[in-house]
Amino acid sequence: MLRDNHCGLVNEKHIGQSMSLAGWVTNRRDLGGLLFIDLRDRSGVIQLLFTPDRADLHETAGDLSREDVIKVNGTIIERGEDNVNPDLETGRIELEVEEMEVLNSAENLPFSPSDRPAVKENTRLKYRYLDLRRDRMRDNIALRHRTFKLIRDYFDEKDFWEVETPILTKSTPEGARDFLVPSRLHHGKFYALPQSPQLFKQLFMISGFEKYFQIVKCFRDEDLRADRQPEFTQLDLEMSFVDEEDVIEVTEGMVERVFNEILELGVELPLPRMTYEKAMDRFGSDRPDLRFGMELVDLSSAVEDSNFNIFSGTVEDGGVVKGICFGGSAAYNRSQLDSLESFARDHGAKGLLWTNVGEDGLEGQFTSHLSERTKDEIVERFGARPGDLIFLVADSRDVANRVLGQLRLKLAEDNDLIPEEEWEFVWITHFPLFGKDETGDLTSEHHPFTSPMKSDIGKLSDDPLNVRARAYDLVLNGVELGGGSIRIHERELQQEIFEVLGISREEAEAKFGFFLNALKYGAPPHGGIALGLDRLIMLLAGEQSIRDVIAFPKTGMAQSPLTGAPMEVSSDQLEELGIDVDRSE
Ligand code: AMO
Repeated sequence: MLRDNHCGLVNEKHIGQSMSLAGWVTNRRDLGGLLFIDLRDRSGVIQLLFTPDRADLHETAGDLSREDVIKVNGTIIERGEDNVNPDLETGRIELEVEEMEVLNSAENLPFSPSDRPAVKENTRLKYRYLDLRRDRMRDNIALRHRTFKLIRDYFDEKDFWEVETPILTKSTPEGARDFLVPSRLHHGKFYALPQSPQLFKQLFMISGFEKYFQIVKCFRDEDLRADRQPEFTQLDLEMSFVDEEDVIEVTEGMVERVFNEILELGVELPLPRMTYEKAMDRFGSDRPDLRFGMELVDLSSAVEDSNFNIFSGTVEDGGVVKGICFGGSAAYNRSQLDSLESFARDHGAKGLLWTNVGEDGLEGQFTSHLSERTKDEIVERFGARPGDLIFLVADSRDVANRVLGQLRLKLAEDNDLIPEEEWEFVWITHFPLFGKDETGDLTSEHHPFTSPMKSDIGKLSDDPLNVRARAYDLVLNGVELGGGSIRIHERELQQEIFEVLGISREEAEAKFGFFLNALKYGAPPHGGIALGLDRLIMLLAGEQSIRDVIAFPKTGMAQSPLTGAPMEVSSDQLEELGIDVDRSE
């Protein structure tokens, strides 16, 4: 061993001992004769003292640059009273250096591990190995490791087996675009990287494994944002002979363990639940952030008979008039309100109305169309007080919910209304089985292997949009942590779902034939869930982006500034794969 202790682990008990340490030069202070260097390794920092009586050593140390790698031998001594650093674990001691070896010197750095705020993310990612030297990044990665270990231990205790599933596989149905890998041996054929191990874990249930879990990479080619990466990590699990309650219970146990061990925080179980319908109605989102109020209020019945055509007409046409009440009209001037209207339009609203609440009730232009009674009722339904600002949207239920849900978040974020250090979990249940895509076609809300509720199976062909799923999502502070369901285990029902989705027998056979076939040979009832671990770690670490908890993430443009991926490849490689690239664009 080059060293016999770690910088951050040395303490007052070691005073008087001689020891060797190794690490990076973090800081240097020259106090006229006495030279201090902070030496850092993964465990922390210790102060080194170079006294002028060892002239050679003192001189070499004076020439050290930041991030040089050195090894030192010396004696641990107590720091002088006025030299104590109470902020540092090792702040009461220092190593008086007797010998030093420079193991490697560092060139001028593109940035130092302590200049975080000034460094652009692209630069951080390009020199990620330097970025990872920062305390905060190191702590995030350590937290990730500890969380993974806790999760593995938890599921091992519960008799789950961790089994790997293929990475070179066939398209899986999570609804994003696939990443494809061309086959050299079979020109024109492609593997797809898994969007999740969904079908494989179901096959494990058919194999009789009963309890499976895996910490697994998934790949989705979709638009990226702060909580989305093209490759990300799931905790994936599946269980046989279970219903919703079993999957929820085992997941809650894991959440409780992780929060208890990592944040020393008691999570009260069972976690609250809310139906999809309630979540949409009250918060305009299926991943509601419950750390603050500002709930959506439905005013349709209060305004349906008003003389204001935008309201009465919308309700007559089957739409709704809904709104939210923001406590602080002074926060917005006219032009800021106009930009909120543009925000609402960008999210699909035809418009956004607002009205101040004054001492005498609602103020504002359009309110002159409303009777005093209606105005009073609106104030009453919101529980509004003078100084409040009410925003209203008249539209279809879906649009009104979506727009107000987004506006609610924006108002809360822009005005710092979201309390930090609060943890609001909620299970969302009773999802619809199907939704519609942009073209109006029916799609699965989760994936097509999700079981409909037994009581709704009769509606599959006539009224599919009102069929509810045996699906559940776990939401924390407005972030979708995970989602899962009880699956279909009967081939006929699976086939029927494909038909409802407009997937022909041939297409189902081509895409999922192997799986449909497996359902023939004794598939037990089963269900499971997958949690986004990057998102979980992001929340535990108090970060805003999953990029800060992934060692080597991609940029928003799905590139790696570090390696340069994705890259062009040589014409030989392309030829081997039988691929012709059109470079005309
Ligand atoms: P789903 O598609 O909901 O379910 O994914 C589960 C969880 O994975 C996380 N996640 C992501 N995290 C980062 N970047 C992404 N691009 C990304 N996409 C998803 C989210 C999400 O809640 N097979 C099903 C699970 C099941 O039914 O058991 C599935 O993958 O936190």
